[in-house]
Amino acid sequence: MEDQINNMAEGLPKDAKEAVLMASDSLPEGTPQIRGYDFNCGVNYEALLQTYLTTGFQATSYGQAVREVNNMIDTKLSSPGGCTLLLGYTSNLISSGVRETIRYLAEHKMVDIIVTTAGGIEEDLIKCLAPTYIGDFSLRGADLRPRGINRIGNLLVPNNNYCLFEDWITPILDQMVLEQDTEGTKWTPSKMIARLGKEINHPDSVYYWAQKNNIPVYSPALTDGSIGDMLYFHSYKNPGLRLDIVEDIRRLNSSVVFAKKTGMIILGGGLVKHHICNANLMRNGADYAVYVNTAQEFDGSDAGARPDEAVSWGKIRMDANPVKVYADASLVFPLLVAQTFAQRKAEFSSREKGQD
Ligand SMILES: NC(=O)c1ccc[n+]([C@@H]2O[C@H](COP(=O)([O-])OP(=O)(O)OC[C@H]3O[C@@H](n4cnc5c(N)ncnc54)[C@H](O)[C@@H]3O)[C@@H](O)[C@H]2O)c1
Repeated sequence: MEDQINNMAEGLPKDAKEAVLMASDSLPEGTPQIRGYDFNCGVNYEALLQTYLTTGFQATSYGQAVREVNNMIDTKLSSPGGCTLLLGYTSNLISSGVRETIRYLAEHKMVDIIVTTAGGIEEDLIKCLAPTYIGDFSLRGADLRPRGINRIGNLLVPNNNYCLFEDWITPILDQMVLEQDTEGTKWTPSKMIARLGKEINHPDSVYYWAQKNNIPVYSPALTDGSIGDMLYFHSYKNPGLRLDIVEDIRRLNSSVVFAKKTGMIILGGGLVKHHICNANLMRNGADYAVYVNTAQEFDGSDAGARPDEAVSWGKIRMDANPVKVYADASLVFPLLVAQTFAQRKAEFSSREKGQD
């Protein structure tokens, strides 16, 4: 062995050369080549984002998500009811500035159905009463608690905001009980959200625009947030309010079953992801799907499940081209809307005029 290593005369070992310089098959014609942005072209964000598709890793997934969302929009605008778009997002995204991107979509009637969790409702309404601030991930809970300041990641919400929320919502809950008792109104979470959107009457609010544009907002776990705290307190002052989640699931599932085509855009995981995917099981799968989340699949969680798992359940169609972007939606979603919906505002407006 030592002799073989030292004996240069024997030349380069044949096996090593063959292993390193093994010949390749050629890749299919048209396979994109990796190429990123050239800053010698100046700072052109549009061109920069276009190069993401050929940059690799999650940049490529972002580029594929842009393509998939544009396909959804093409189908949506191709005929009346061409594609029903379902948008889901976790509560923290409404706490963050992603709220303004979501409000834009609701304001211009670019999505048809919204699903979110309780915080995703109340944080939008509360922001119309008082602001949320930038803080820091490292601020200590034990320092913040005595000061009445709550932390969501690197955001700060003064506890006074929730006191203002209670003052605002309590008379509305009283009125809802009255309408239930005197007019027979059957409240559901989606009807309550529409009512709150109407009452807040503020153009910054996602739910103001959603109710104005007849976009139903589903939130089957509406009690898991400050709204639940308010409903709990109110149940002592003025008991009897009922919210029917069965009527909402019937309405959501039926609108998906009878849709010509469906597209899902789901930011984050948990309830919002499953609720939208499960509704699409009723039609044997969504036609288009984009997930943006940070969750992984090794623990078997629904949050981390890739689109292919949803294909196995019949929640995404077998011939669809779904995309998952592994990223923080606060970075990705505004950029995704910038390359899709926001570029096509005129097409959405002319469709609206055509339907008037
Ligand atoms: N501001 C808040 O976050 C807030 C406020 C009040 C109540 N709550 C309640 O807490 C409960 C849990 O919240 P949830 O179900 O909305 O989601 P969550 O915050 O528990 O997140 C669920 C999963 O979504 C993914 N995710 C979350 N944020 C993401 C991001 N920025 N980018 C990419 N992926 C992301 C992660 O995989 C995460 O595990 C809900 O019942 C909600 O009402 C939340």
